[in-house]
Amino acid sequence: MLCIGIEGTAHTVGVGIVSSDGEILADERDMYHPPKGGIHPREAANHHAEVVVPMVNRAIEDANIRPRDLDIIAFSQGPGLGPCLRTVATAARALSISLMRPIIGVNHCVAHLEIGRMNRADSDPLMLYCSGGNTQVIAYAKRRYRVFGETMDIGVGNMLDKIGIMAGFGFYAGPKIEEMAKKGSELLDLPYSVKGMDVSFSGILTAARQHINNGCSLEDLCFSIQETVFSMLTEVTERAAAQADKKEILLAGGVARNRRLAEMVRVMAEERGATLFEPPFPFFADNGVMIAWNGLIAYSSGQRMTISDTVINQRYRTDQVNVTWRQQPFRAVSK
Ligand code: ATP
Ligand code: FE2
Repeated sequence: MLCIGIEGTAHTVGVGIVSSDGEILADERDMYHPPKGGIHPREAANHHAEVVVPMVNRAIEDANIRPRDLDIIAFSQGPGLGPCLRTVATAARALSISLMRPIIGVNHCVAHLEIGRMNRADSDPLMLYCSGGNTQVIAYAKRRYRVFGETMDIGVGNMLDKIGIMAGFGFYAGPKIEEMAKKGSELLDLPYSVKGMDVSFSGILTAARQHINNGCSLEDLCFSIQETVFSMLTEVTERAAAQADKKEILLAGGVARNRRLAEMVRVMAEERGATLFEPPFPFFADNGVMIAWNGLIAYSSGQRMTISDTVINQRYRTDQVNVTWRQQPFRAVSK
């Protein structure tokens, strides 16, 4: 069985094709780069509308299949930016109707988690999902991905990207901050904001702005942000792992590409006798493969949607998803 997945919740359009034995046949991506500042939802949606159809055609070519070989059409139903979600949902509906194939809407956050479990059907990890718009510690219980803790204001990646704009790094600042942090050494004062298993970042943003206005070293600022913010995330992950009694930890989302964060979580996991695992590196950030894979396991476990069920949901929460596929774990048999 083959599933095509179309991602387009925010900056990136991704089109992936996967088979039910876990083989990745296509992984097309195209990221929208705003000319300046952050993402304007309508401009990003215009970008998505321009690229999505050629990308679907390219993915089908890459996979060396005919369009009618596709069995399922999956798309990112939310959460995300309304105009972007609507554009991608329209493309998915058109494909489903024209090929007469079933359509499945996928929760973007859950797709980030499931791509990490793709070849580990039996795993039951505590998950740290940290990306642009989301920061959550999650564990599975009784058919739901339960949110144990989360950000009380903005997502960690949005915070890094806002600091990046203030510091003149441009949009999508995470990789630049990681690089700059390696050259920093002095720990600047930033608020460490943890409440139970929740975190908050707006105070750090304000403090960072003050440090920049005072002419601080940007290397030291990046170093300090990473050390402070990733310690906060590691602390709440450890607390949730203890509470939920999980022996495995999974990292997910674009910010988890950061190797300093992975290092901190790994040390914590080892100290508690837990195992850390991660998705293959290309699948931390937004991509169509994770949408295709989540659509495929949802469909295989009996989920069905009509076109009228495919209305997008900008605030689709991780814990609203009915996780039918973990009753009888779906197994990818290959690599
Ligand atoms: P969400 O899953 O919340 O919808 P998203 O759609 O914005 O998030 P992702 O690709 O999951 O997209 O994550 C993007 C975020 O990851 C951006 O904020 C980016 O700056 C950040 N990021 C990417 N690489 C790194 C890195 N090496 N270090 C820190 N942050 C990073
Ligand atoms: Fe994402």
